[in-house]
Amino acid sequence: MRVLGINAIFHDPSAAVIVDGRVVAAAEEERFSRRKHGKRPVPFAAWELPELAAAWCLEQAGLRPGDLDAVAYSFDPGLCRDAAEMGLDDPWDHLRADYARRAPQFLATALPGLDPEQVRFVPHHVAHAASAGLSVPEDSAVLVLDGRGERASHLAGAYRGGRLDVLCGQELPHSLGLLYEDLTRHLGFLHSSDEYKVMALASYGQPRFLGLLRELVRADGDGGFTVERIDWDALAKPRTAGEEMTEAHADLAASVQKRLEEVLLDLARWTYRAAGGLSTLTLAGGTALNCVANARIAAEGPFERVWVQPAAGDSGTALGAALAVNGEHLPFTTAALGRGWSDDELEAELRRAAVPYTRPASIAAEAAGVLARNGIVAWYQGRSEYGPRALGHRSLLAHPGDRDTQTRMNDVKGREQFRPIAPMVRAERFHDIFEGVYPSPYMLFVHRVRPDWRDRIPAVTHVDGTARVQTVHAEDEPVVSSLLTEFERLTGLPVVVNTSLNTAGRPMVDTPREALELFGSAPVDLLALGPFAVHRAQTYRSVE
Ligand SMILES: [Fe+2]
Repeated sequence: MRVLGINAIFHDPSAAVIVDGRVVAAAEEERFSRRKHGKRPVPFAAWELPELAAAWCLEQAGLRPGDLDAVAYSFDPGLCRDAAEMGLDDPWDHLRADYARRAPQFLATALPGLDPEQVRFVPHHVAHAASAGLSVPEDSAVLVLDGRGERASHLAGAYRGGRLDVLCGQELPHSLGLLYEDLTRHLGFLHSSDEYKVMALASYGQPRFLGLLRELVRADGDGGFTVERIDWDALAKPRTAGEEMTEAHADLAASVQKRLEEVLLDLARWTYRAAGGLSTLTLAGGTALNCVANARIAAEGPFERVWVQPAAGDSGTALGAALAVNGEHLPFTTAALGRGWSDDELEAELRRAAVPYTRPASIAAEAAGVLARNGIVAWYQGRSEYGPRALGHRSLLAHPGDRDTQTRMNDVKGREQFRPIAPMVRAERFHDIFEGVYPSPYMLFVHRVRPDWRDRIPAVTHVDGTARVQTVHAEDEPVVSSLLTEFERLTGLPVVVNTSLNTAGRPMVDTPREALELFGSAPVDLLALGPFAVHRAQTYRSVE
């Protein structure tokens, strides 16, 4: 069966393709259009399709649009209700249903030769659920934790034998995801985009509004929850972008974060009972990118195993819709589902750019040497990642032992200084340094840094003593693993700073040309482009 999955309606438009039981490709439109998140998250952008990502997915699969058995579209306009009826204040919300109804014709225009009759609407939260539940090999309970779908904000279910049994869904306007988006907006960040900044800010505050939030945001004991209207202005004054962050802002972030964690734990416990003995919980939906909450669900919830879809936000519904229509478990083994280039193609790009380059015996050892001298490495290897995290394919790497690394990295990327940077660690050494969920190959949980290591890797230890760890396993990521091994040999530290390969406000680097552009415009010491090394001539600063 050949299924193309499409996410278009809300944000992060993306495409994925499954051919004969294999996920061949998946990618966000932003990596092609170079517009962060692909489009604005507003109703009048609902028509915008992931045209470039979809065309590339088909090309990667060697298919023409007419070869497809189905196009799975992650929104079902038949489930939509009037915005006012749902308690939403949005006069343009109906545009989503209007555009979705016409999506088959739009898609046939974007992909000439496609039969519009092949387009199937998959309910938004069924698509999220499938992206998680059908990505693990075993039966699982599933929780979709989202801002909103057609008319609901969450789904609790159970996957048995590849079939989804929906146990509960919470109707709008009650939404934990929209609650967090409102807070994000109130704190002067971009909603549907910057929620992770609020999560980072929460670590700096005291949850002094928790009592009030416990009254306003509550699990209902029946699998759902209620979110009453919150007078944000009364708690902390609204902040505009760039304005100074106050203690009240951090305290508000801490309070909402804590309450979110508590309610999610209630939902996880309810789902465990309702799903009847399933020991794995799978998570998807934008709120499932909250790695602090995920870590608490894993540590304090009733499930033996918690697995989170790496593309938990809406971009993952392209894969999820395709999985739902394909109808079988296809275990997720790698996020490297985007574009890649052969060594010959990479070398041709270097020649075209006329930059001096070498092909060292080991690019991993070359990069580890630069990192050990406290240099910054632009690390471009293999296919790009699907989902918001850089996982060692399009990464910016640095030394974890220098307290100034965080400032330097945040400067390169134009990020707020309160935002932590994350470590990757050789899997074999994880337990020596960190506590918490293992394995963690997709950076979806926070971990405690063992006290004796906090001063050795200060750059990646957040103010609350945690780190968002990626475990690197040699069998899955041999080149990154050997980089970590070599770095440990040189420094005694099996940990490297890993952040996404992009500069401020831009999507992650996808093509080799974009990697060269970043190298030319940012203070990066080495570009490791596949097996090739491009050095910037300079001296390195010492580790403080
Ligand atoms: Fe969603």
